[in-house]
Amino acid sequence: MIEFKAIGIIHTPFIRSEGTPIQPRYADGACGTVELFAEYEAGLKDLDGFSHIFLLYHFHRSQGFNLELVPFMDTQSRGVFATRAPKRPNAIGLSLVALERIEGRVLHIQNVDILDGTPLLDIKPYVPEFDSCAGVRVGWFEKARKTVMTRRSDDRFT
Ligand SMILES: C[S@@+](CC[C@H](N)C(=O)[O-])C[C@H]1O[C@@H](n2cnc3c(N)ncnc32)[C@H](O)[C@@H]1O
Repeated sequence: MIEFKAIGIIHTPFIRSEGTPIQPRYADGACGTVELFAEYEAGLKDLDGFSHIFLLYHFHRSQGFNLELVPFMDTQSRGVFATRAPKRPNAIGLSLVALERIEGRVLHIQNVDILDGTPLLDIKPYVPEFDSCAGVRVGWFEKARKTVMTRRSDDRFT
């Protein structure tokens, strides 16, 4: 058994899945804030030097999971670990968002695909040298590449 404690709350304009962007890359202009709890504020030192950050969070509105599912962008069943579906054995989300500015313990972020009130588990800086890969294969997602930019979530998703 592993227990995590939320370190803050993510605030966004998205109160339900319908219409919520499905990934930060396709969430242009979607702004939000991360409110870090006061006891963790000292951990924000030097984060303002980074333009992008990873948010790790709990998909708190997801219920249950299936080890195989038809992903939102596909018509065939896939293994959950080959998808970004919110319904997963450990309901952990990962979003790479733009960090606009930090005011005290509030982070102003852009390009959010996260529902309002989501509990934050961690923040990590994006560093291209660590996080960007060459020669990438994207499996079943290859055929969805052309249409993904225009898609938005719906209530089936959570
Ligand atoms: C495909 S998931 C991708 C999330 C993240 N970028 C990832 O890859 O882990 C994005 C969708 O998750 C759903 N979602 C976001 N926050 C959630 C939450 N707190 N609980 C349940 N579902 C959530 C919304 O429907 C959103 O459109």
